[in-house]
Amino acid sequence: MDKTQWLDELAEGLSDYGWMSFDITPWLGTDLLQSLQREIIALDQSDALKIAGIGRGAELVRDRSVRRDKIAWLQGDTPSQAGLFEFLESLRMGLNQRLFLGLKRFEAHYATYHSGDFYRAHVDSFQGRASRIVSLVLYLNYDWQPADGGALQIYSRGDGVEAGSLVLPEAGRVALFMSEEIRHEVLEAHRTRYSLACWFRQDVIPLPISAVI
Ligand code: OGA
Ligand code: MN
Repeated sequence: MDKTQWLDELAEGLSDYGWMSFDITPWLGTDLLQSLQREIIALDQSDALKIAGIGRGAELVRDRSVRRDKIAWLQGDTPSQAGLFEFLESLRMGLNQRLFLGLKRFEAHYATYHSGDFYRAHVDSFQGRASRIVSLVLYLNYDWQPADGGALQIYSRGDGVEAGSLVLPEAGRVALFMSEEIRHEVLEAHRTRYSLACWFRQDVIPLPISAVI
């Protein structure tokens, strides 16, 4: 399958079901996956990941009963992040061409869930805000077993749990879904769980005041 056909399949999955899961290794390559994994492990070990919150700016709340992961935003400034950003940019354009979503940019953070951590059922974007439109989560764990917990539970567009909607966070696996529509939950992890979350957004970065003439 070439990349054009692959993008056709992603677009079809998103519009027909609102979500899909697939192995991205053939497109990213094992070297890039492994270097991203090394990067997040180093960040975790140097305590560079911070407790994640819910909301933004003045609305930010840190509620440990809802989510317990730690995060670090990616700037695209290391060779592996630059490689990833190049790939995400091609995905952004490919989805725009097929789904007319008007995705303007993306943001991405690493996330670590230590044993006992979870993220209760939620959606990634409030409907009508037109901010986060498509969510992508890339997993960075080798030899993940069902007994390790930490699966991503995807809920159907209705609300019920669909058959086959548990995604194991195994390296190279990706969950791709519509941010406003698809409720999902990270089940409690029983070992350290590394991932990278990315959101394709419809809004543009507000200009800093000093740049407005
Ligand atoms: C999130 C999220 C899912 C996962 O960060 O908003 O839902 O599987 N992550 O890590
Ligand atoms: Mn989420």
